[in-house]
Amino acid sequence: MRKVIIGNWKCNPGTVQAAIALAEGTDGIVFRAEDPPIVAIAPPHLYLDAVRETIEDSVLAAQDTSWEDVGPHTGSVAPRQLRALGVKYVIVGHSERRAAHNETNEMCNEKIKAVLKAGMTPVLCVGELTRKGKTKRFVREFVKKQLTEGLKGVAKIKQKGVIIAYEPIWAIGNGKADTPADAAEMICFIKEVISKIGLPKTTPVLYGGSVNEGNAEELFSYEEIDGALVGTASLKIGELRYVIEAAAGR
Ligand code: PGA
Repeated sequence: MRKVIIGNWKCNPGTVQAAIALAEGTDGIVFRAEDPPIVAIAPPHLYLDAVRETIEDSVLAAQDTSWEDVGPHTGSVAPRQLRALGVKYVIVGHSERRAAHNETNEMCNEKIKAVLKAGMTPVLCVGELTRKGKTKRFVREFVKKQLTEGLKGVAKIKQKGVIIAYEPIWAIGNGKADTPADAAEMICFIKEVISKIGLPKTTPVLYGGSVNEGNAEELFSYEEIDGALVGTASLKIGELRYVIEAAAGR
């Protein structure tokens, strides 16, 4: 299975010109890599159109969506609007949205269904806040709840598929990734849970949280890890190149 690398630019960069340059740089790596993984770029909504015009070999992704196509959602962007712009993947339930915008598992579930209905692939983010002072069982139950509530009813939908990103919150944005062995173990657990829910065995489960040039190769040496959701390193072309090449198995 081709690995999936999704660059989550978050609130970066500061101008559309810089966004175009970053998209060009990313697309250039994909173009040159032999047997490249699927590489998606999730820019801020504001730059989606400019990025779409720039890329040829990467996939366009969005960082969030409204859960309804029509409705009074000031400041939100609807699934049908994303779809019309050429978006293929939509990140749902990123921990920063759960924390700063109080997004619940139920809201994620609504968004996932709306994304599927619009013909795009949702990327559901799950992950625990901390492991300190928690038993393995507690952490697993927490993630299981995010999956079962977030994906409720989804297996019944005729759909293009779902992607899961396991992102332990304590590992995001600080350079302190989970150990590849522990990440792979959690991903195995996630695969068991989603298969019980009825999702296909081929559903990709990515790791996210400080993926960079120093840890990508070891992470991808675990065959359970189907790719990565990359924040900080997706903003540096030199570093992203290592991640993409590591995912390509070189
Ligand atoms: P990071 O971000 O790679 O900077 O840890 C990952 C994410 O938040 O998706």
